[in-house]
Amino acid sequence: MNYWKPDRQSTIPLHQQIEHYIRHKIISGEWPVGTRLPSQRQLASSFEVNRSTITIALDELKSWGIIEGNKGGGTTVINNTWNMIAAASQQTIDWQAYVKAGTHQPNLKTIQKINHAEFAQGIIRTGTGELGKELMPHHQISSILQQAPSEIFLGYEEPKGNFELRQQIAQYVKQWGIHCSSDSILIVSGSIQALQLIAVGLLARPSSIVAESSSYIRSIQVFQSAGIPIHSVAMDKEGIDLQDLQATVAQYQSGLVYTIPTFHNPTGILMSEQRRRDLIEQCQQLRLPIIEDDVYRELWLDDIPPAPLKSQDTNGNIVYLGSMSKMMSPGLRVGWVIAPEPVIERLADIKMQTDYGSSNLSQYVATQWFAQSYHEPHIQWVREQLRIRRDQMLELLQQYFQDIADWEIPTGGFYIWVRLTVIVPMQQLFEHAIQANILINPGYLYEAEATSSIRLSYAYTSPEHLRTSIALLKKYIILLRR
Ligand SMILES: Cc1ncc(COP(=O)(O)O)c(C=O)c1O
Repeated sequence: MNYWKPDRQSTIPLHQQIEHYIRHKIISGEWPVGTRLPSQRQLASSFEVNRSTITIALDELKSWGIIEGNKGGGTTVINNTWNMIAAASQQTIDWQAYVKAGTHQPNLKTIQKINHAEFAQGIIRTGTGELGKELMPHHQISSILQQAPSEIFLGYEEPKGNFELRQQIAQYVKQWGIHCSSDSILIVSGSIQALQLIAVGLLARPSSIVAESSSYIRSIQVFQSAGIPIHSVAMDKEGIDLQDLQATVAQYQSGLVYTIPTFHNPTGILMSEQRRRDLIEQCQQLRLPIIEDDVYRELWLDDIPPAPLKSQDTNGNIVYLGSMSKMMSPGLRVGWVIAPEPVIERLADIKMQTDYGSSNLSQYVATQWFAQSYHEPHIQWVREQLRIRRDQMLELLQQYFQDIADWEIPTGGFYIWVRLTVIVPMQQLFEHAIQANILINPGYLYEAEATSSIRLSYAYTSPEHLRTSIALLKKYIILLRR
């Protein structure tokens, strides 16, 4: 996200300020040769100027041979003063070659676009997986911080994370029948970090994992980057399909199952109690560990969901993930892993090599959140609000999408997985929508074949904004249908 804006009070014309800004980025090496500049439309929106102002600035830079327009309409940095001098002595560093050589996969192009567009002014986010600002506990966190003692611990934490927080988590998960000591808990910087640690720390090579078809895990490149392919297992209304699971594991000799049994991302499916029992039994027979990603558990809207798989884990087969992100604040970056001690110690050891521990200020806030009983009233209120928003979203879908899509009513979590019944080029729909300042999460982010689905979220955007965007999306879908 770009925070710089030209100064409208200055006597220097706007286009000249922009040209200076871009020139500085290039000369300082922040935008090395080969960098693609944001589109003119994006620059105009981020600098809050007309597109014609951008065109003048870019034309000037082009005339100096610093940037060049390419066929697809983009603009690329082709030269800078430092590079010119260095090229003369054959010392130019081709950073683009280094960038491409890294072992971690880049995000999917659409995710990169979403990550940037999410912070553009005026954008409406129809699929975002976090609570809207108005649902986050600003006052409570502010009061926790105000009461923080002046001698608050500011050093590095122990490898597994803050001891008091781990005790609080051990106490917190007891309500669902998970009995563990603080020794089998690792605090992580969001549950995504747990996935990263597991990918590099627990699986032999070559190896693969299985996960529900259409899964959050596919929208991040954590396992793929570690050289571990993800094989898809079908789902039905009760969760992961066990026959398909068995067949897939046998076919690929997979080393682990990743599942989101409670309010699955992106489909919203809640795994039934029976399926949970059967899954545990089957995995025990197959000697297959399970990663249970349970970050949406607290966001039930109708009935309390069945207990976590982990609560039935008598053999230590399950690695359990929880997080503050979805129920309270993702910005805190506090999550936890509950697993047998050797697993926790292995993951903690890698975490120490990765970041030497999560922020202890965040861990302090999370500890107080539970210790001072802020959690329960907050989560009850969040559920009430989400219930209202879910129902409003369902009404909107009924009004605008009834003849072009179907969907299930989610009983918790954030998402409605909308399956279009008409054929629409999803990528084009994404691009059309973004031009109109509407951001959608196409289904193909969660499963390459899910080209006719869209993940909508009722958690982030206000119902008023959702109404405008759903109405407009309908128009585009009709316009683009084949
Ligand atoms: C199923 C699931 N797991 C993990 C995460 C990551 O959450 P965190 O913020 O705890 O890293 C998400 C976020 O979208 C998610 O949907």
